[in-house]
Amino acid sequence: MNAVVQARPNPALRNVAIVGATGAVGVEILKCLEARNFPVQSLRLLASPAGKTMTFRNQLVTVEALTRDSFRDIDVALFSAGSSTSKEYAPIAVAAGAVVVDNSSAFRMDKDIPLVVPEINPGALDGHPGIIANPNCVAIIAGVPLWPIHRHNRIRRIIAASYQAASGAGAAAMSELRDSTHAYLEGRDYQNKVLPHPYAFNLFSHNAAVDPLTGYNGEELKVMDETRKIFGDPTIAMSITCVRVPVLRAHAIALTIECEQPITPAEARALLIGAEGVKLVDDQANNYFPMPRDASGQGDVLVGRVRKDLSDPSGRSLCMFVAGDQLLKGAALNAVQIAERLLRSRD
Ligand SMILES: NC(=O)c1ccc[n+]([C@@H]2O[C@H](COP(=O)([O-])OP(=O)(O)OC[C@H]3O[C@@H](n4cnc5c(N)ncnc54)[C@H](OP(=O)(O)O)[C@@H]3O)[C@@H](O)[C@H]2O)c1
Repeated sequence: MNAVVQARPNPALRNVAIVGATGAVGVEILKCLEARNFPVQSLRLLASPAGKTMTFRNQLVTVEALTRDSFRDIDVALFSAGSSTSKEYAPIAVAAGAVVVDNSSAFRMDKDIPLVVPEINPGALDGHPGIIANPNCVAIIAGVPLWPIHRHNRIRRIIAASYQAASGAGAAAMSELRDSTHAYLEGRDYQNKVLPHPYAFNLFSHNAAVDPLTGYNGEELKVMDETRKIFGDPTIAMSITCVRVPVLRAHAIALTIECEQPITPAEARALLIGAEGVKLVDDQANNYFPMPRDASGQGDVLVGRVRKDLSDPSGRSLCMFVAGDQLLKGAALNAVQIAERLLRSRD
């Protein structure tokens, strides 16, 4: 049973479905729809086992099992249930008349599917084929503060290292970090079930499979390919090392960029202050810079430690450090912002 949020039909409102509603991203999508007052007529929450309930605008909504019939009368379907579920069910949702915003990697590099960060390439939504892909969380969090610089002075090379939180691997990985930390502090053995290595008081190379040809893992390849697609600039040179760190929520990324023309830290700060979706946190006197704890729960990406790359005497390179809540801007919030833009362009 789906919850009818508004009793009387209203043409300005939409029937919305969340696929993967009970997951780490799905829960945040639900919160974003509520917090941003998304025009919801009715809401259908979908996951694998039925029977759970969730709350939306003070109403209990029963989670339904996902089936081929789940998208009847749905206008907007927000998917966050993994690639195989998206590959199977997103085309079914589109055939039923819904527009799909997909958080998985299933369609991101498909040349006909827009890969969108509203602050960067909203124009890519024009003429979409019914599915819009939400990018990889690291690509979004790095891309939002790099875009105002790139627009002003093209970035031709990016070197990065990520510090990725448990939440990026889903709700079960967050539980594994909590449980293994308790066990470690209490001197108990803990058998990891979700991530491949002990997580408490440890860090390790991202758990995506390593491509034997390049030596980069799947996460690193996604970030590099997707950044080029979102920026619409296939020739940006990029190298990233993705690392899983024992942080519960919000990713951080160390970035070194080389621009086409010389650029000073002051110029970069001026471009970042007031840029959409960005908050400058760059207090050198107090050594206060972006941190995952501060970024958690915020829609903005924090950026700071903006400084010259002393290894490049040409003056074209800068270093900076960013932190962003990847469950929000890296996933749920970005997806809801895309859906909002789609509705605006339809009305
Ligand atoms: N976590 C992030 O920061 C992040 C960022 C960007 C993109 N993403 C992408 O978003 C997706 C979800 O990630 P997550 O972190 O939210 O994972 P998660 O916490 O593991 O949640 C997965 C959700 O998908 C549902 N699900 C799984 N298999 C299903 C199936 N066969 N049919 C119906 N529902 C199914 C689960 O429902 P049950 O609990 O009922 O099984 C749960 O609601 C993934 O594709 C991920 O790559 C995640």
